[in-house]
Amino acid sequence: MFDSLRTLIVERHRRRPDAERERIKHRLLEFQIGRFGWLIDLPSEVFFGADLKVLATIYGTDKWNRHWYAQHYEDLFCKIRRKRINLLEIGIGGDENPRKGGNSLRMWRAYFPKGRIFGIDICDKSAHDRGRIKTFCGSQADPEFLDSVVREIGEVDVIIDDGSHINSHMIFTFQHLFPHLAAGGYYIVEDTQTSYWPGSFGGNETDRNDPATAMGYFKSLTDGLNWREFKNSYTPNYFDLNIESIAFYHNLIAIKKRLSEGPRRPRDQAAPCA
Ligand SMILES: C[S@@+](CC[C@H](N)C(=O)[O-])C[C@H]1O[C@@H](n2cnc3c(N)ncnc32)[C@H](O)[C@@H]1O
Repeated sequence: MFDSLRTLIVERHRRRPDAERERIKHRLLEFQIGRFGWLIDLPSEVFFGADLKVLATIYGTDKWNRHWYAQHYEDLFCKIRRKRINLLEIGIGGDENPRKGGNSLRMWRAYFPKGRIFGIDICDKSAHDRGRIKTFCGSQADPEFLDSVVREIGEVDVIIDDGSHINSHMIFTFQHLFPHLAAGGYYIVEDTQTSYWPGSFGGNETDRNDPATAMGYFKSLTDGLNWREFKNSYTPNYFDLNIESIAFYHNLIAIKKRLSEGPRRPRDQAAPCA
């Protein structure tokens, strides 16, 4: 029954004309951040909690139906869904309008029933603070601001960069925040297509290994996974020692942090997803 209901919601949402969809989204948003938001949150969490594709559709984030990231997030996060995690997303959405955006924060809150969900945006998004969601206003390119955020949150289990998508910001924010990620945590960079877009994003299509672009930079980290096998003397850096894996998807990169800096060992038997 829930499968057919879910299909119905997704299909109806998809077929509406853009203007109508925007109007519905706006009404839904006003309702969700209002006093009776729990009327949507509670059934969403109870009935669709494990299905990120449906949650992304209900909450109107472009992580599904435009970018197709929700399927990858399900693979990555299904084992930690029921844990008490801290998730920090950079980029809350809705640009300058303080009441717009927050869609992905609410989606994560429904997906991680015990998770604390934090958001960073250059615009004030405090209208979305409610229950397990807390927002911070500042730039992902400001080291003091980032330090103050992690001081307040403590260790972060999942960091998602869906902010400015400027290549220098994506690289800087990773270098600054990865050390604050919990052992075994995930750092995700969305919309890496800007690596190929010159101009304000700072991409470079001519040299696709340009280390000043997100794709070029993260590709350059992959050799560090094997640094113990280098024949010449080499001093490993923090990233060589602490990255477990780097997965590249369409416009999305997922970096998993190691549990310890020591030699690599066989993994524990993989736990099945709930
Ligand atoms: C694509 S939207 C985020 C969408 C949201 N994560 C979702 O999935 O629903 C990008 C957001 O990043 C914010 N942003 C832009 N530059 C930023 C910066 N330097 N630091 C922090 N946030 C920034 C914008 O204000 C905008 O709200």
